[in-house]
Amino acid sequence: MSFDPDALRAEFPALSQTGTVYLDNAATTHKPQAVLAAMTRFYQQDNANVHRGAHRLSARATRAFEGARHQLAEFLNAPASEEVIFTGGTTDGMNLLASSLGQMVLTPGDSVLIDGWAHHASIVPWQQAALRAGAQLVPIPLSERGDLDEAAFMALLQDKPKVVVLTQICNALGSRTPLARWLPLARQAGALTVVDGAQAVGHEPVDLQRLGCDFYAFSGHKMYGPTGIGVLWGRADLLDAMPPYRFGGEMIHKVSFEQTSFNTLPFKFEAGTPAIAQAIGLGAAAHWLQQQDRAAMARHEAQLLARARTGLSQLDGVTLYSAFDDNVGALAFNLDGEHHQDVGIWLDQAGIAVRCGHHCCQPLMQQLGIRGSCRMSVAAYNSEEEIEAFLAALNDYQEFLYDDA
Ligand SMILES: Cc1ncc(COP(=O)(O)O)c(C=O)c1O
Repeated sequence: MSFDPDALRAEFPALSQTGTVYLDNAATTHKPQAVLAAMTRFYQQDNANVHRGAHRLSARATRAFEGARHQLAEFLNAPASEEVIFTGGTTDGMNLLASSLGQMVLTPGDSVLIDGWAHHASIVPWQQAALRAGAQLVPIPLSERGDLDEAAFMALLQDKPKVVVLTQICNALGSRTPLARWLPLARQAGALTVVDGAQAVGHEPVDLQRLGCDFYAFSGHKMYGPTGIGVLWGRADLLDAMPPYRFGGEMIHKVSFEQTSFNTLPFKFEAGTPAIAQAIGLGAAAHWLQQQDRAAMARHEAQLLARARTGLSQLDGVTLYSAFDDNVGALAFNLDGEHHQDVGIWLDQAGIAVRCGHHCCQPLMQQLGIRGSCRMSVAAYNSEEEIEAFLAALNDYQEFLYDDA
């Protein structure tokens, strides 16, 4: 297994066709030909609904769809494939969990702990579930150093939270939550643990049996797969005990006008026709990633970020919010005195795509004392030349400002 950044890049048609230096990978990644082909093949050769047809096309579609579930179970090293629930993405998975698990375990006076750099997709569903139950959502604050405050976390665990929700890698900063230390602490305190893995799955292998959480949610489109599909993985005993979230076809066992009994896992949580082609595309993305040298991909991404970090720190008047050099995927920054949107527009005019704003992390922005930032984020197909182009465009911007003064 070898990693050749140029060869990998050539597998992504959008990179040559859009003519953009794409540094907005934390928002969504481009898709390799293998994923595009799997989805087109499904529509051209196997298109039918799943689990319900008497005909051979439906059997083929079902095989491909359930094959994708198996592929994802293997990709995640999940104990069983029926624990892999297809969702619309991380947001959808968190809504399912907060609604269903929240209904099962939260009672008045309970607390749910959540890290201070969580995405709105985690914060809002759990906040609303807590409100419905008369419970409280409690944030784990940032420390002076800019990471999550471990002492505060330990102190908050004394209150015996029912659920602890942790973001594996913060999308706004690229910082890591120390899951290897924190998940055992949360479980020792008797909490159920939920991990938002949206920003991790595309950058590093995830081994659920090693990680030791109770639930794990992510989106396909951030790991080279399609939009509209993601996974919520959960421990089978918990998923079995949880009430269904959405109701309709496929999730039932028996229906009368008086009552309904529900299907087994994973179907209990997959009401209606699923996103079949997208699930197959996500299975193809998982397979594609499993065939790559992921350690080499991660090293390449780390080198790109290190170069961007050095380049940014050499520019005058740059505030870097990504404080640690083990950041994954993303760097956040502002140019002093400049609105982040203005910087984004300048970069766009230079053909460089970054994200500007609050990154769906308004509580984090409040803690940092800013309204927003620019964020550049890399994937394995990015090149050193692209990082140089990004730095050169920022340098030009500063020269333009200086000339204007
Ligand atoms: C850390 C994190 N969690 C959740 C989400 C929400 O993902 P989606 O919009 O695919 O549901 C994102 C998307 O940016 C994210 O970065």
